Amino acid sequence: MCGITGIVGKQQVVDRLVDGLRRMEYRGYDSAGVCTIDRGQLIRRRAPGKLSNLVTELAENPAPGTTGIAHTRWATHGAPTRANAHPHATDCLALVHNGIIENFRALREALVARGRSFESDTDTEVVAHLMSEQIEAGLSPEEAVKVVLPQLRGAFALVIAFRSCPDMLIGARVGSPLVVGHGEGETYLGSDALALASLTQQITYLDEGDWVIATPGGVRIFDKDNRPVTRPVVASEASAAAIDKGDYPHFMLKEIFEQPTVVAQTLRNYVRQTDLSVALPQFDFDLSGITRITIVACGTSYYAGLVAKYWLEQFARLPVDIDVASEFRYRDPVLEPGGLALFISQSGETADTLAALRHCKAAGQTIAVVANVPTSSMAREADLLLPTHAGPEIGVASTKAFTCQLAVLAALAANFAVRRGRLDRAAEREIVAHLLEAPEQMAAALAHDDEIAAMAHLIAPARDVLYLGRGPDYPLALEGALKLKEISYIHAEGYASGEMKHGPIALIDEAVPVIVLAPSGPLFEKTVSNMQEVRARGGRVVLISDAEGIAEAGEGCLATIEMPKVHPLIAPLVYAVPMQLLAYHVACAKGTDVDQPRNLAKSVTVE
Ligand code: F6R
Repeated sequence: MCGITGIVGKQQVVDRLVDGLRRMEYRGYDSAGVCTIDRGQLIRRRAPGKLSNLVTELAENPAPGTTGIAHTRWATHGAPTRANAHPHATDCLALVHNGIIENFRALREALVARGRSFESDTDTEVVAHLMSEQIEAGLSPEEAVKVVLPQLRGAFALVIAFRSCPDMLIGARVGSPLVVGHGEGETYLGSDALALASLTQQITYLDEGDWVIATPGGVRIFDKDNRPVTRPVVASEASAAAIDKGDYPHFMLKEIFEQPTVVAQTLRNYVRQTDLSVALPQFDFDLSGITRITIVACGTSYYAGLVAKYWLEQFARLPVDIDVASEFRYRDPVLEPGGLALFISQSGETADTLAALRHCKAAGQTIAVVANVPTSSMAREADLLLPTHAGPEIGVASTKAFTCQLAVLAALAANFAVRRGRLDRAAEREIVAHLLEAPEQMAAALAHDDEIAAMAHLIAPARDVLYLGRGPDYPLALEGALKLKEISYIHAEGYASGEMKHGPIALIDEAVPVIVLAPSGPLFEKTVSNMQEVRARGGRVVLISDAEGIAEAGEGCLATIEMPKVHPLIAPLVYAVPMQLLAYHVACAKGTDVDQPRNLAKSVTVE
């Protein structure tokens, strides 16, 4: 999603601005631009496509200056062209924006009626004109911001540079994240601490509705009612070193292989190895009155939530509702007193999930958040924060964050079960012992990488692929299909295997590979029956199971992938690995941009 950097300082800024953009490339974008202020002029350079195009543009047309703003744009309103790329500018100012100005049409019509003309199709440009009108009418930038911000509806982060005030930037956030970085005689603004990590580790996280005046000497922060406020400066843990892929060809593969380590790291924060008990990080948090759980998330995080629904119901006997965030808010959900609303998010910034969180908070629910970014908006608004410890996830397709979410959610389900008297000590010890086996078993699954790479050519030519699973493996089938479609652009669908004969079986022919997830265990026979129904109709099956399952049902399959034999509780963590590797190798075989697939953004900060 859009990335913002801004520097107001004493030294040339353009290279450092572009470095900040590079650190945010992983978020996904389709054009980029900078604007500096030099000798009373706004110097604006923009280019569609990759950041390297902007770098080429800057080599031909440099942008000198000690104050500047920069942006990577993920198109919402208007195609990814040079004219729609940020910064947007008028004679007196330039600005960058992340998010959506929802009332931009009405604002634009009114501006046009007042004689303003527009160069782009974006919602952002209205803000440039609204601000300019006030400045042309004689208001100071500070006064103009106070007039304009209340007119904007939606979620946005803005940074504005003014031609007549070269030593100042103004930033504002409503809904979308914006942080301040503190340097020696310089001040920075950025979408997150990672974007500013090579400039400073001293970070201030702005609160909802805050706006700031940044100068080389520091910042003045105001709340949404324009009252001066103080927000703490904290030491960021984001590494200044450029995030690199090590010896891996892609971040995604590196992150897939990191999973045994980061899942073990996450589990260390949720279980006590000494007595094999579950312990949440905020162990004194009172969950005893909880009668119902509402889980809300998007994409891969939603699939982690679907797995958790099986666990919470099975172990803790708690009723669980689950929804994708974009649907949740608009279906007027019933939220009874005593409910826990659980939000799952890698970034902690996904706009729909964040909006759902605020809706539940206003409705009096207790708010629990599973997030990978502990400084994110969701993490900061939680009553109970359950961090995953996956480390920064750069590949757009979520992998290690997903399995770390599963680890946290399994521990949460066990913890609820203990508190509700549904698990005695012996059963708790057994569950924890199985959870602790997960990293080693995931490493065993990773050992099949070469074999999975070798079978990618079987899937790569397909136009459609189906994934089938039952029980907690059904959400994994959904996740496998999502991974394949987002990075290889092959149409894929996940189905509960028992649903096949209620419609999708009509799709089956020899051109549609069917990936069946079937660990041996209580649901194996039923899943295999569904698989045979597919095969009887000429379907070509890739069976993912353990040695026992493959011995029983592997004959005649197009291919088999053997997983270690694991306890059903950790099967979703282990079986996630071949799903991810298969999608990865198929995408490589097709030559797509694995880490930055077309049209996708890492942190979706627009609704
Ligand atoms: C898929 C993927 C997305 C995210 C979704 C939610 O690989 O990464 O589907 O899971 O955009 O993002 P978070 O978890 O940051 O809320």
